[in-house]
Amino acid sequence: MKLKILVTAGDGIGPEVTNESVAILREVAALGGHDFTFSERRIGGVAIVKDGTPLPADTLAAALDSDAVLLGAVGGNEFNSLPPGKRPESGLLQIRSALGGFANLRPAFAFKELAVNSPLRPEIIDGVDILFVRELLGGLYFGQPREWNREANEAWNTMRYTRDEVVRVARVAFQLAQKRRKKLTSVDKANVLEVSQLWRAAVNEVAAEFPDVAVEHQYVDAMSMHLMNRPRDFDVVLTENLFGDILTDESSVITGSLGMLPSATLGGKVNLYEPVHGSAPDIAGKGLANPLGAILSGALILRHSAGLETEAVAIETAVRRVLEQGFRTPDLARANPQGFPVLSTTEMGAKVRETVKQLLAVSC
Ligand code: NAD
Ligand code: IPM
Ligand code: MN
Repeated sequence: MKLKILVTAGDGIGPEVTNESVAILREVAALGGHDFTFSERRIGGVAIVKDGTPLPADTLAAALDSDAVLLGAVGGNEFNSLPPGKRPESGLLQIRSALGGFANLRPAFAFKELAVNSPLRPEIIDGVDILFVRELLGGLYFGQPREWNREANEAWNTMRYTRDEVVRVARVAFQLAQKRRKKLTSVDKANVLEVSQLWRAAVNEVAAEFPDVAVEHQYVDAMSMHLMNRPRDFDVVLTENLFGDILTDESSVITGSLGMLPSATLGGKVNLYEPVHGSAPDIAGKGLANPLGAILSGALILRHSAGLETEAVAIETAVRRVLEQGFRTPDLARANPQGFPVLSTTEMGAKVRETVKQLLAVSC
């Protein structure tokens, strides 16, 4: 299997976590005789500093010429006073838009071993397995007009969707639900917003194509509460861009840490893989970052861009084993009554790598 992966590590903890993910993908390639090539390009704050723009042309060209892009994170406090279009985050939005992936899959599941790390009671989170499908190219993030008019002291953004934009992401979500527990929850604010009314009508249209999937609609305010009260009731959760951004960070409370969550963005020219978390400037450069979200994003590359399901499962199983053995990064050891060993970013990466090696050696 040949795979050309572009790594855009970005800012803060981005390089720390992507290094661990890449090391594991290299191990998988070596064990299976696969030809994976990795190249690196700048994005975000590092690119602003070195190239004067958050998405340099050669980064975009390399991304479009690859089979998959693995992104770390972008953003840093020193850029916070820049206008949206010049910030590191705009590099990420530009690359998302250019690659064209509109379905951002964000799985959130409870690891039994991490239950103690969640403020939710174990009986609430036991067995939670949710797949968020976040629409990634529309809504407030990309809608026009947008402006901060300083003379008028007024600013506006536009939450806009076309029926077709909703239909295409809804189809992806329904297809995924068919392969899972056949339940889909669509989240909107149709009691107030026209754009949500269109969203709901388009989702219902697609629902008719999937009679085996049970559909429900929830308002986003109530959904944020249901997620904490009864997260086990949800299977696939489909939602628009901003609501998905917010609900997925919230769902990390179930898993125990934002550092655990991976994502895959599908449907465009090149798939984009990124952990859900940001550049975490508060812990950057200290070896404190949890690399498991980035490592699990690597597993998603194998599943969705390489068709290497066994190897993807090996990475996911290795993460589970390492947690079962009691290894933790600091974010996973807030409550650590058993005194489990707390590892650095690279130590955690190495543990998962060794375990992947053992698992794949056995399955060969
Ligand atoms: P954040 O996700 O970076 O951090 C939120 C909190 O979670 C922090 O306390 C951080 O230390 C912790 N955290 C995050 N990832 C972790 C990990 N892997 N291991 C351990 N702890 C982890 O969000 P923020 O602080 O709101 O944003 C910081 C910067 O990141 C901002 O510039 C923001 O725009 C950017 N951001 C980028 C992305 C991305 O590139 N995909 C995503 C979210 C935020
Ligand atoms: C995420 C991030 C990004 C988003 C930002 C950094 C543009 O928060 O991937 O969740 O809002 O999509
Ligand atoms: Mn976010």
